[in-house]
Amino acid sequence: MFNINVSINVNGINYTKDIDPSTRLIDFIRDDLKLKGTKEGCGEGECGACTVIVNGKTVNSCLMLASSAHGKNVITIEGITDKDKLHPIQEAFMEVGAVQCGYCTPGMILSAKALLYEKPNANEEEIKESLSGNLCRCTGYKKIVQAVILAQDKLNNK
Ligand code: FES
Ligand code: FES
Repeated sequence: MFNINVSINVNGINYTKDIDPSTRLIDFIRDDLKLKGTKEGCGEGECGACTVIVNGKTVNSCLMLASSAHGKNVITIEGITDKDKLHPIQEAFMEVGAVQCGYCTPGMILSAKALLYEKPNANEEEIKESLSGNLCRCTGYKKIVQAVILAQDKLNNK
């Protein structure tokens, strides 16, 4: 099989690599770049654990080929904030206790980030809608929604 050359900006760093054309974006992120915060749950676009932001929009990285991200900007959970500092959304998840096993958390936080960037005054329904593609087996969602509301307050009163 021939390889193709892609250049993808991930968390502000440009990566140019030769990859198998069938490489999914999640594999590029986890295996090539060793960024393990992005999780694989279903591998079929159903659970949202693999959510990343590509050019400002959330995508399921298990469904996107890495080659489709060529020339684009990708943000993973490792890139949402400066090193050594939590992002206000991460702080809010901790303060509210919206994390149990944590497997869904990176995807939830990236979905919340994309929403609050686009709609800084999102209402509860909009928050629930934006998280509807992210499944959580543990928390029952209530605390996750509370955390996003708190994060919104933090971001708007910075
Ligand atoms: Fe991608 Fe479930 S692993 S949506
Ligand atoms: Fe366990 Fe959400 S905290 S799946």
